[in-house]
Amino acid sequence: MVDILRGRHTAEPPEGTVTLLIGTRINTLWKVHRWLPFFTSMVRMLKELLTDKERHGFLGYHVWFGRTTLVVQYWRSMDDLLAYSRAQPMEHVPTWRLFNRTSEGELGVFHEAYTVTRRGHHVIYRDMPAAFGLGGATSMVPARSHPGTSPAEWSDKDRADAEHWGEVRASAS
Ligand code: HEM
Repeated sequence: MVDILRGRHTAEPPEGTVTLLIGTRINTLWKVHRWLPFFTSMVRMLKELLTDKERHGFLGYHVWFGRTTLVVQYWRSMDDLLAYSRAQPMEHVPTWRLFNRTSEGELGVFHEAYTVTRRGHHVIYRDMPAAFGLGGATSMVPARSHPGTSPAEWSDKDRADAEHWGEVRASAS
């Protein structure tokens, strides 16, 4: 059973942390022998990254399977990500080459990488597992849209906001 972190939390990632959305789409379902090898290479890459996270600057991942499979990965920096993708002894380079040489569109691949900047992200987790997302991969802290940790410490405006959004019930008095 997963431990749920109750309440509102946010991530405090170091600036420069990278979120990578990466995945595949099976375009021709019946040509299993053509897309399966690339599909399984993702599993091998994740294993290889997990064996030495610190060296690669790999912070973690989540995966959702379907006809389109999405892997969300977190990296220490864009330099670390690009270094891994071009590292000769690792799994990615030969996969990339083989794909370029042999693929005839049976499997689509996508990579979208975004660097976290100080003011360029907004993250909220509410009653989610503690090890989830960017917060789980870096640092998970209570969200501070209302200064103070208990409603008793809120200003009138904080309380009015919280009531407006249904985070607390309006007081009877
Ligand atoms: C841990 C998993 C993976 C990571 C971190 C990763 C990362 C990257 C990065 C950073 C690039 C850009 C490299 C550059 O432009 O210099 C790239 C390109 C590429 N990757 Fe991956 N990749 C992963 C898995 C895969 C898989 C499973 C495939 C399977 C086919 C794949 C196929 C490709 C291809 C074909 C390109 C070149 C795309 C283009 O520019 O046309 N990658 N990858």
